Amino acid sequence: MTEESGQADVYDATRGGLLKGRDTLLQLVAGQLKSQQKAKRHSVGSRKPKVWLDIGGGTGWNIEAMDDIMPVSGFDAIYLIDLCEPLLEVARKRFARKGWKNVHCLHQDASKFTLPEWPNGKLPGSGQISLITMSYSLSMIPSFQETINRAQHVLDPEDGIIGVIDFYAGRECELTPKDGKAVNSLDLDTGLFGSWFWTTWFSFDHVNLRPSRRNYLQQRFEMVKCINGRNRFILPSFVKIPYYIYLGKSDSSRGLLAGTTSSLNDGPESFRIVNGLLTPESPFSSAINKKDLSEMMLPDMSIGESAWSSMITHEEEVGSLAKRRASLNTSLHQWRLPYSEQRIHQQFRTHIYGWTWEDPQCDIDRLDIKDGDSLLCITSAGDNVLHYAIKADVEVHSVDMNPCQGHILELKLAAAQALEYHDFWQLFGEGKHSRFEKLLDNKIAPHLSPQAYAYWKANVDQFSSNFFLRGYSGWAIRLARVAFALAGVSKDVKKMISCDTTAEQDAIWKRKLRPIMLNPVMKLILGSGFFCWNALGVPRNQLNCLLQDGDIADFISATLDPVPGLANMKNGAYHYLLCLNGKYTRASCPLYLTPEGFAALKARNGQKTAKIKMHTDTILNVLYSLESESLTKIIVMDSLDWFDPIPESQPLPKTRRPTEAVSPEVELEHLRSELDYEILEMKRVLKVGGHGIWRSAGKAPWYVKRFEKAGFKVQSVDIREDGQAIDRVNMYASLWRAEKLA
Ligand SMILES: C[S@@+](CC[C@H](N)C(=O)[O-])C[C@H]1O[C@@H](n2cnc3c(N)ncnc32)[C@H](O)[C@@H]1O
Repeated sequence: MTEESGQADVYDATRGGLLKGRDTLLQLVAGQLKSQQKAKRHSVGSRKPKVWLDIGGGTGWNIEAMDDIMPVSGFDAIYLIDLCEPLLEVARKRFARKGWKNVHCLHQDASKFTLPEWPNGKLPGSGQISLITMSYSLSMIPSFQETINRAQHVLDPEDGIIGVIDFYAGRECELTPKDGKAVNSLDLDTGLFGSWFWTTWFSFDHVNLRPSRRNYLQQRFEMVKCINGRNRFILPSFVKIPYYIYLGKSDSSRGLLAGTTSSLNDGPESFRIVNGLLTPESPFSSAINKKDLSEMMLPDMSIGESAWSSMITHEEEVGSLAKRRASLNTSLHQWRLPYSEQRIHQQFRTHIYGWTWEDPQCDIDRLDIKDGDSLLCITSAGDNVLHYAIKADVEVHSVDMNPCQGHILELKLAAAQALEYHDFWQLFGEGKHSRFEKLLDNKIAPHLSPQAYAYWKANVDQFSSNFFLRGYSGWAIRLARVAFALAGVSKDVKKMISCDTTAEQDAIWKRKLRPIMLNPVMKLILGSGFFCWNALGVPRNQLNCLLQDGDIADFISATLDPVPGLANMKNGAYHYLLCLNGKYTRASCPLYLTPEGFAALKARNGQKTAKIKMHTDTILNVLYSLESESLTKIIVMDSLDWFDPIPESQPLPKTRRPTEAVSPEVELEHLRSELDYEILEMKRVLKVGGHGIWRSAGKAPWYVKRFEKAGFKVQSVDIREDGQAIDRVNMYASLWRAEKLA
């Protein structure tokens, strides 16, 4: 009798804390199946039977837990496969108590499972299984390749989902697939010591944590979702057992690898012999002296990448497979273009902008954004992208090199599809939702890319108290709050955002708030490069742009003085309402948060948003990837202020920026001329008559001349003069348009 069989009766009670994350796995697979079903509800065709295999299912905990998320009665059949008879006995009793007739326990080895309906135990010709789960069993199954191959063979190639949760250990280089599409790679690596420690520790219990199992799984199934977690079991701050959750779909190119790995039906002879002897082991038991015979008799396949690549004879095929894999986004929507996580992304652990500062209605009216436009704009927090998509039938390339900004827009897009208005408002209107994590796993996840899901799963606390106080921009709200509280004007702030007229707003501003915003301490803080970047997202070059027209006090008064008298915060001037109130109100919020805006985003399965393509890259790289004359407007917000000035006498570059390696001197030269390359690419990608559009913190930005040099006709749409605002936000000193001439 094994340790596990001996503990069968108390198994669930003792394993709950150790086998963490199973609930998340179930929420994710259920959410995925439900969304797929919903998306297909209007399609014709015969209904497929819904069959679930829980491989290494033990006492049936998963199946009972699933009933609360997705009724067990909704499956045509559920099979629990396990090798340990005493655990199966517990499962049988559990299912009998529930009266479930569609749940069956099969006492079988995972690598050779067969279902009763398959004639003579032969595998069916094509995949029919809707769902396969493996919770903390893959690491215990010696013949993992056969098991995974078999699972892959029987999974419905179109709609089937596999969900695996397990412990793992390894270095980033061992665990990152060749195509570089690691998700959450910062949390992937378990460190040199951790990898050794956990691998050794678990090996005493015949649990194999080396990277080969996880790599093989990821290689065989297309990634749908993937997260790396740490189980803070027993001693929360010291003991953090690494685990992962992987949701996969049938790999469309699976035929490529067939025949290069072990066959489906028969394992190696030696393994088959051992298999009969194999008894499952508990990760809790410490059978130090027992040797994992089966592992010893298998060829060594446990040394990271080489384990699977050594079995694959056609390197080129693997390469092309990897390339194709990287080009796919397996979420229900194709908003986010796949990107590989790169070193530079590690600079962006969080978002800079929690909301978008530019006034989108001003863009629509003054820049004439209309049906049929093809736009490129900066993602920021996505508010303006959503505004454009609601207001006009436009194609939008939304660009941000900070992946977290993309994750915010994706969350808004996905939540609009997955949630009802009430929950959507809680998240993005109030900035908090007590059930965010549940909604994320169960409803929103199927609509998100793997990267966005992994990010939000690791950052669920952003919606626990107030999302708008998070990220760099959250510091700006915090500073204002502290300053107003210290000056004893918090009550006046409340009054100001409840005023019915702009005259009343203006009076409170002048008497109460202005003296605080323009006092010497605030001027010092707002004028410091550190605060400007870390709270306002204003880099040094941009600070220099605005300082050309006066000092920081001039800029603050030119920005803020006209605003209270211009538009009512209580009824529509939502940018400043958010800063003072820390959240929106129903009467004052961005268009996408209004019932009408939300309905427009949701209509016809998000048809209005289908033409949004999100890029996680620099504007220049995205421009390089677009066809000539494919855009009508490129709205780069204030990003041109960020570049290093280029001397007026310097000629424009003659060629494109080279992508291959160049000498450091040449590279420096290219960095200096970076804006020139962007201007030249804008020119190539814009249609004749199309516009490049930007805002600047300065009234006469230096780079206007570079556009003119490149042959654009440049016009100032508006320049902030004589105490007048250029729009409801008035954050910038000027708005410009550069037209591409024939
Ligand atoms: C840690 S337990 C997890 C049980 C269950 N999935 C859960 O989450 O509660 C691992 C399970 O894998 C089963 N197992 C190990 N090797 C197996 C094999 N070769 N075939 C089938 N089941 C196996 C064990 O019997 C055990 O029930």
